[in-house]
Amino acid sequence: MNNKAVETKLWRIVQERSGVSRRKAQDLIARGEVDVNKVTIRDPFAPVLQGSVSSLHLRGQPLSLEAPQPRVYRHNKQAGVLCSHDDPHCGNTLGRILRSEGFIGYTWAGRLDQDAEGLVLITNDGGIVQRLTHPSYSVRKVYHVWLARFPNAQEARKIYAEMKRGIRDDNQLLRVIRAETSGRPPHAVITIAEGRKHEVKRLFAHFRLEVVRLRRVSLGPVALGNLKPGGIARLDRTEMEVLNRFISDLSPTPGGARRSAGL
Ligand code: URA
Repeated sequence: MNNKAVETKLWRIVQERSGVSRRKAQDLIARGEVDVNKVTIRDPFAPVLQGSVSSLHLRGQPLSLEAPQPRVYRHNKQAGVLCSHDDPHCGNTLGRILRSEGFIGYTWAGRLDQDAEGLVLITNDGGIVQRLTHPSYSVRKVYHVWLARFPNAQEARKIYAEMKRGIRDDNQLLRVIRAETSGRPPHAVITIAEGRKHEVKRLFAHFRLEVVRLRRVSLGPVALGNLKPGGIARLDRTEMEVLNRFISDLSPTPGGARRSAGL
């Protein structure tokens, strides 16, 4: 992806290099089946600096030290699908969908609520996920919002001006970068740069407006486009170049992490 030294958790390296699931990678490490530089490491979350591993063995068998070719897919998540690898209470998880489509060793950037729909990026590169989702980089996301009640134009202007200044909710500052009214459903197009839990719903709830449908239409430089609901499509070479350039140009925004912590 880029040449900056990146620290990765051991389980992620084992997952990527062996193709097992995240849980399996963590189990194998905890059971003492993984040796790094000929030493058994039992902590799945042990930090590993890229380039510091000269040998990696799983059950005595060498694993490739080469990271697999980074791949990114856009996915149009459907409402009802839970962004979780596994969940004891919900069978309809993104993890299950990916495994059934043969995506082993993949994860995603950009969680969505279970009832939300739209763009999620699926990738085998943890560095891409880290860069796109870490609060300090303030990567922009655009949402289409359907409301139970549509405010009139004057009310909407007031609400959006307040949203841009920022509102306090649960000790956090929530803010939009852009907000536009479309006049018909979807009622609003909202751009946010942080990724707090239920952020869009909380922003509207502050003004007693209920979000009844929510769709993410872009994340950083990647747009959902006309991908059909449930569809998964690999980014082509040009799209990957654009994404890689976007990621290498990212730098922490002043106060990004502090703002995300609500400070
Ligand atoms: N904001 C929300 O309220 N939900 C999402 O899934 C994403 C952003």
